[in-house]
Amino acid sequence: MITNEFWLDRWKTGRIGFHQEGVNPKLIEFWPVLPKGSRVLVPLCGKSNDMIWLAEQGYEVTGVELSSLAVIQFLGDNDLAFSTHQDGNLKVHTVDGLPLRIVEGDYFEFNENNFDACYDRAAMVAMPDSKRSDYVTHTLERLSPSATVLLVSLEYDGDKQGPPFSVTEQSVVDLWGSEIQKIASENLAQTNPSYKEQGHSIFKESVWRIHPE
Ligand SMILES: C[S@@+](CC[C@H](N)C(=O)[O-])C[C@H]1O[C@@H](n2cnc3c(N)ncnc32)[C@H](O)[C@@H]1O
Repeated sequence: MITNEFWLDRWKTGRIGFHQEGVNPKLIEFWPVLPKGSRVLVPLCGKSNDMIWLAEQGYEVTGVELSSLAVIQFLGDNDLAFSTHQDGNLKVHTVDGLPLRIVEGDYFEFNENNFDACYDRAAMVAMPDSKRSDYVTHTLERLSPSATVLLVSLEYDGDKQGPPFSVTEQSVVDLWGSEIQKIASENLAQTNPSYKEQGHSIFKESVWRIHPE
């Protein structure tokens, strides 16, 4: 079962193979230009450097992450000064000198609204089947009606147990709504031999977007 304890334990024991040292190339390639100061939500953010890139573009970035270790590592690795305040069960860490906040706690308790955009890499696919629909509903509720979403999804064959979980294209549309459009797709099993070695002939990474064109 994928519980909050599961994720806290992954961070405690350093099993964070999902973390990428650089900025995700798909973010750089496919993030649309939005007005400076747009509020961007990064659910289940881990210690992703993608948040630094987004903040450097002039957006007001809010990452939400369960693990205090992830938060400490993110702030430490990037040498960021910050201040912290408590908001109910959540701890809000506001970074000095960059438009960036990390909210530490359970995403399902995070209830701010009216975000202009959302970046989901390794978040929806981290959620098991039983929680995925709640995750997407909770995320859509945080966004303004005209918000942009950039989503990176995975779909694979073989008997791998997630996370990351395989999510079909039909499920992505069912979950996020008919406005979501696939804008790129790559079968990593064709380009990276390690996926073949793990028994996959398909390990498809797709990029999806809701607004703007
Ligand atoms: C697969 S990682 C992806 C992290 C990040 N998006 C990235 O690209 O590196 C999923 C992250 O979600 C966090 N997480 C899982 N459940 C959560 C929850 N209910 N609330 C907040 N964070 C959660 C985990 O601690 C983990 O850091």
